[in-house]
Amino acid sequence: MRVLIVGATGLLGKEVVRMLSPEHQVIRASRSGPDLSVDLTDKASIVSMYQRLGTVDAVICVAGAAKFAPLETLSDDDFAFSLANKLMGQVNLVRRAVGHIVQGGSLTLTSGILAQHPMTGSAAVSIVNAGIEAFGRSAALELRGKARVNVVSPGWVSETLAAMGQARSAGVPAEAVAQAYKRCLLEDITGEVIQVAKW
Ligand SMILES: NC(=O)c1ccc[n+]([C@@H]2O[C@H](COP(=O)([O-])OP(=O)(O)OC[C@H]3O[C@@H](n4cnc5c(N)ncnc54)[C@H](OP(=O)(O)O)[C@@H]3O)[C@@H](O)[C@H]2O)c1
Repeated sequence: MRVLIVGATGLLGKEVVRMLSPEHQVIRASRSGPDLSVDLTDKASIVSMYQRLGTVDAVICVAGAAKFAPLETLSDDDFAFSLANKLMGQVNLVRRAVGHIVQGGSLTLTSGILAQHPMTGSAAVSIVNAGIEAFGRSAALELRGKARVNVVSPGWVSETLAAMGQARSAGVPAEAVAQAYKRCLLEDITGEVIQVAKW
């Protein structure tokens, strides 16, 4: 299959690329490429990427940022940034995929476990993650027969915790999260939110 991966240069994205590359033609995208450049916050950039891409069997998005900070310090701009970036960036990636994804193709987005299990500082992130899951289920309903839409919801990733000086054992390895993206690509599922987290 021909698979576009947005966020391919990130921690999780690299693992998804590594897992899928042996069997699929992977096209790696992010603001810095390496195969195609795209800025999720810029609709014109998404349209331009799809024009350069042509047709694919699947789109996987492992990108998107939202502000993590205590509620009382989150500004209007912080909320606007979060909504425009991780939420609307992924929504627009799905909206603009029409005409560039094969009949029955697969679209996979990324949310995060803070949607269901908030913590201090997660207000903006939690809204965004919950919005992605709601959108994913709605889009799956409306695109049924045309494209499958699923969402992967990671908990803290071990490698991220290690980079923050915390115990890896409290998280899930990036490889386990990448398996969930592979499931969304290969299994005949739609409208699913796949949680990969340590409880
Ligand atoms: N790591 C975790 O513990 C964890 C847990 C739960 C959820 N998540 C979610 O999983 C996703 C990936 O996390 P990660 O840890 O792999 O992140 P990461 O290592 O920071 O990688 C982010 C990737 O997205 C690209 N990117 C960033 N902003 C972009 C934009 N505006 N347009 C296009 N590409 C953009 C980056 O490349 P460029 O800089 O070149 O654009 C990079 O390839 C995020 O949505 C994150 O919220 C992560």
